[in-house]
Amino acid sequence: RTIDWMPEDAEKGRYDHFMRKEISEQPTSLAQTIEGRIVEESGGEGSARRVCLDEFPPGAFADVSEIQFVACGTSYHAALYGQAMLARRGIGSQTFRAGEYAMLPAPVDEDTLVIGVTQSGETADTLESLRRASEGGAQTLALTNVVGSTAARECDDAMFIRAGPEIGVAATKTFSSQVASLALLAERLCEDRTGESSPYQGELLSGLSALPGLVECVLDDGRANDVIDRYRGMDSYFFIGRGIAHPVALEGALKFKEITYEHAEGFAAGGLKHGPLALVTPRTPVFAVFTGRYTDKMLSNVEEVQARGAPVIGIVSEDNSRVIETVDDAITIPDCHPDIAGLLANVQLQLVAYHVADYLDRPIDKPRNLAKSVTVE
Ligand code: G6P
Repeated sequence: RTIDWMPEDAEKGRYDHFMRKEISEQPTSLAQTIEGRIVEESGGEGSARRVCLDEFPPGAFADVSEIQFVACGTSYHAALYGQAMLARRGIGSQTFRAGEYAMLPAPVDEDTLVIGVTQSGETADTLESLRRASEGGAQTLALTNVVGSTAARECDDAMFIRAGPEIGVAATKTFSSQVASLALLAERLCEDRTGESSPYQGELLSGLSALPGLVECVLDDGRANDVIDRYRGMDSYFFIGRGIAHPVALEGALKFKEITYEHAEGFAAGGLKHGPLALVTPRTPVFAVFTGRYTDKMLSNVEEVQARGAPVIGIVSEDNSRVIETVDDAITIPDCHPDIAGLLANVQLQLVAYHVADYLDRPIDKPRNLAKSVTVE
């Protein structure tokens, strides 16, 4: 099943910018992404959810012994999120920036699955990486939003993220749909590789089923806008996280710099003390992404930057009073499975970037020097 796009889908409607519209569309786009891909089965001990991917029935990846992701920009961050989800299931994988991967012979053989994560399916570096992987004998899979795109046509297989058209140069709803698709794919890969579903499958799939409604709650919460009022005109904005929250921090910083033109960087929280801490001052607010995992370690990183005078804005579950009391400001998300929490935190960071850029009157849908789809290497 794919999604048919109507002409009005490409209009701004009541929103000032496509980006804001596309952020708001996420409950719908995510519902489309997961539709029919999670099925409820009743068995001996009541009902259970399982993954159902028409494109990839059980056993589709039985021959795969190595998994690689290639991608650019926001899609690279979605791929890192996918890698982190696989790692939780004990499955190793590697994520490459396509611009680097495409320069060398691909490190693959016929048991390697190379997943090209590309919203447009037209990014030159990603296409070149997939071609090299294919030449090396690997199986290739395009995870894309565009049916009929070059990546979808050239790869052995395609999985469509069904996010609907995205006009804003800064990717928003496609990131969420890529990650939701990768969560489903991770479960299928886990079953095919280990012979059993992950211990998290039930909880993750119920979390994914609830995700459209949870995103709706985040969108109704005006906290991102209120909080950033206090941090205007600072020197730099840093974003930190661990595990799945690391790519969320990278994506938060990318979105922020792309559309506000303010300096922003994302870091693995554990890497702060290996260099970036030298940059931290009272004029560098730090957005700390908590997903419910590694809370103690994250809190110690928060204390490291607070000790240097930096204000900390925690993106954190509304139930986590320990974190809420420690950080200088909290932007909360509903309590949910950590893999889902990363997506909700990301929606809050999309709103942070959007509100700052809107306040600064930036051309949000067409930031200077950037293109929606980069078709040159
Ligand atoms: C450009 C866009 C980004 C996007 C990246 C990869 O840099 O500005 O928003 O993430 O390309 O695009 P793709 O279509 O391959 O996901």
